[in-house]
Amino acid sequence: MQKLVIKGGNALWGEILLRGAKNSALPILAASLLCSGETVLENCPRLTDVFAALRILTHTGCRCSFEEHTVTIHAENIVRSEIPEQLMQEMRSSIVFLGALLGRTGACQVYYPGGCELGPRPIDMHLDALSKMGVCIQRHEGRLDCTAPCGLKGARIHLRFPSVGATENIMLAAVLAKGETVLCNAAREPEICDLAEFLRRSGACISGDGESTIRIKGVKKLGGCAYRVMPDRIAGLTYLCAAAATGGTIRLRGTNGTEMENVLPVLEQSGCRVDRAEDSVYLHAPKRLKSCFRLKTMPHPGFPTDIQPVIMAAMTTAEGTSVFEENIFENRYRHVDGLVQMGADICVSGRTAVVSGVKELYGAHAAATDLRSGAALVVAGLCAAGTTEVRQICHIDRGYEKIEEVLKGAGADIARVQQ
Ligand code: EPZ
Repeated sequence: MQKLVIKGGNALWGEILLRGAKNSALPILAASLLCSGETVLENCPRLTDVFAALRILTHTGCRCSFEEHTVTIHAENIVRSEIPEQLMQEMRSSIVFLGALLGRTGACQVYYPGGCELGPRPIDMHLDALSKMGVCIQRHEGRLDCTAPCGLKGARIHLRFPSVGATENIMLAAVLAKGETVLCNAAREPEICDLAEFLRRSGACISGDGESTIRIKGVKKLGGCAYRVMPDRIAGLTYLCAAAATGGTIRLRGTNGTEMENVLPVLEQSGCRVDRAEDSVYLHAPKRLKSCFRLKTMPHPGFPTDIQPVIMAAMTTAEGTSVFEENIFENRYRHVDGLVQMGADICVSGRTAVVSGVKELYGAHAAATDLRSGAALVVAGLCAAGTTEVRQICHIDRGYEKIEEVLKGAGADIARVQQ
């Protein structure tokens, strides 16, 4: 077991290189299952969730290699269409292998996925949509046996909520299905567009991604391609928030900030100077941030739920009161206990959290309870007086590649130690 030990108080400065997005790489890795040729995925982050996806691909018969930040996959010979429970439980994104395996083989057996505990995370929309596409689903003690006796067929599907995972699963199932799929109220996150672009370059016929209605005309075959994963907007924003909270100045390389457009204005409103260039985002923070008034998490292009914990950590020492409203997950304030332990003044009532800025946080011992709650504790630790220890960092490693090295490179006093 490892933990992060942070001596707070250093303002971040210098450059940080942003890697590819976890939430884009994972569905694209699942999509590589649909391709009969070679897939080469560049800018792929080296994260535990990515390694879990590669274990699933290897289990089904794909040949995978991972050199530096490039993954190569050969999926000519798929020999298994079942995924064992243990592999499914390793992460939430394992569920997108359902659509991909069905698209490729017309049948699969999977289990309910694991992943961050953010409240109930049903997959009813995924399953309802697949049923409309001709899939028979039988449930046996947590296992889902899925078959498409007459093959997958295009359908008109309306999601009651623009679920990211359901949108991805439907796209993956539809690209090789017979006929056209029209998906209404689809998720519009940038990672959906990245998946669609990968599929198009591999031979799929998709339009409307990034809008509410996505149209997918089934094709006979996908070839595979070389593709560069988009920058990780949530990791990038985490590093910008860390710089903002510590009164620092950093240049984030590997992005021009397009995928962060809906959040950068919040940092500007809290007093930071933000400049975007062709290949970087520059942030210069004031000594003390101003509160960000009211933030409501919403599906894209609204304010992303994934950055709410991290911005909240930055707002704990801002001047004034910030109000957060979490509208995506029922249980996404799990970082609050840790922040309060560090001296933050936060009051939660239902989906609302009111943060009254304090002058200073102090170091504490806290545990990451999910990926972004862990990132929030790290950001708070960077600006707290004294030493903070963050345990259960396996959660953080799911979404941030060597977070301690990235932050140390920008002047933070942080180390990973064995417990
Ligand atoms: C994706 O999760 C992301 N994960 C999450 O990132 C992110 O927080 C979330 O989208 C929202 O943006 C990946 O991309 C791997 P949803 P996903 O389906 O697909 C309800 C991170 O920190 N719902 O859009 O699981 C659900 O309960 C993570 O990187 C149903 O009711 O999210 C939730 O309230 C965590 N039935 C809401 O929709 C369904 O069938 C949004 O979930 C599906 C979802």
